[in-house]
Amino acid sequence: MKEEKQASTDHFAAETWDVIIVGAGAAGLMCSATAGYRGKRVLVIDHAPKAAAKIRISGGGKCNFTNVNAAPENYVCSNPHFVKSALSRYPSREFIDLVDRHGLEYEERELGKLFCSNRASDLIQILRTECDWAQVEFALKTEIEKVISQEGEGFRLRTSQGDMRCRKLVIASGALSFAKLKASDFGYRIARQFGLNVIATRPGLVPLNFSGKWLQRFSDLAGLSLDVRVSCRERSFQEAMLFTHQGLSGPAILQISNYWRHGDSIEIDLLPNLDVLSELKAIRQQNSNFHHWLNTFWPKRFTQMWLNLYPAPARLSNAGDEALETLAEQLQRWSLYPSEDGGYDKAEVTLGGVDTNEISSKTFESKRCANLYFIGEVLDVTGQLGGYNFQWAWASAVACGNAL
Ligand code: FDA
Repeated sequence: MKEEKQASTDHFAAETWDVIIVGAGAAGLMCSATAGYRGKRVLVIDHAPKAAAKIRISGGGKCNFTNVNAAPENYVCSNPHFVKSALSRYPSREFIDLVDRHGLEYEERELGKLFCSNRASDLIQILRTECDWAQVEFALKTEIEKVISQEGEGFRLRTSQGDMRCRKLVIASGALSFAKLKASDFGYRIARQFGLNVIATRPGLVPLNFSGKWLQRFSDLAGLSLDVRVSCRERSFQEAMLFTHQGLSGPAILQISNYWRHGDSIEIDLLPNLDVLSELKAIRQQNSNFHHWLNTFWPKRFTQMWLNLYPAPARLSNAGDEALETLAEQLQRWSLYPSEDGGYDKAEVTLGGVDTNEISSKTFESKRCANLYFIGEVLDVTGQLGGYNFQWAWASAVACGNAL
């Protein structure tokens, strides 16, 4: 695949392709190589000038490309069983074997996350090579104006480079997050055009914003990070939480944002893994300094803010059991109401999307329209933070590519 040396418009229009894939992102590249290896003539269309923009910037430029622990419970989907088949047929081990064959240097970080050791573009190069070997062709910088079904004979796409025809059409156009990387609602429009239901979308893996006095307090602490356990709707994540000028961010908050709904509170345990009540009783008995004790866990600026909010004496010798219980509760169940999420521009992913009840979990073909397929993030499948979203892109793409 050479973006610079793209074939001419006439070439794209001259044949009826076995498969056209819309979207040269993670899922589109993987699916095209899989189908190409099976002898299919595959054309990938993308309106962006370069393939795989999200892979390039992901993981701070090092792409957290999979997670060794990826399992169905790491995904949010209205139809939770849907993800099982593809993930079991293409587990993270398979993708690791692929990058190993290409000699990619990568490293394992906490919680099973795998990152490129050097640059995310090393991974893009691997996918490009796979596509080249599978003789996949690309029409980049190509806008799709219309998709017309040809009654049992596939589809005709009206594009900025003329009409293109295919027997099978795969929508791998991703979702709404990061519009500046050419994200669009194309996939949802096509789904609706062909009678498929689209589950309402909202930003996921996104910072949570606050208003009023909380906004001011958090803004004053911007840049500080704490290790916490955050809970909402019976889900909990223990990771770092970051104060920002808009509210809260960091891995713990991004994770819980997948479950948070407008109007919900989030509960924060500021001293996770600690039996705080027993510790407070020990502080009282030893007559040691409670404020100093807090400073052994938190940056001083946060302790100060906390004690302004919830004043407590430095010595707890006069505090009764009930007062200590209240103190422990405040520290371990800090209840906050975010005002809104940070929006699609700050969201790593989009929750909701094409209803998986309308899609075969084996082939990813639409149950309503033969020869039309949906893969990757356009579907109502969203992974947690940690390489799970790319793993879904690879797994859904391979399942589909093998069925085309
Ligand atoms: P993807 O968005 O990758 O590709 C869609 C393609 O379709 C794009 O090339 C786009 O240009 C094209 N397209 C869209 N509309 C079109 C139209 N109308 N016509 C033609 N083409 C069109 N995940 C993870 O597992 N680990 C990580 O480290 C990160 N990090 C990360 C950072 C940031 C900042 C973001 C925004 C996202 C992540 N993610 C992530 C999520 C991950 O990037 C995402 O889930 C996958 O890229 C989804 O792959 P898809 O191929 O489905 O869509």
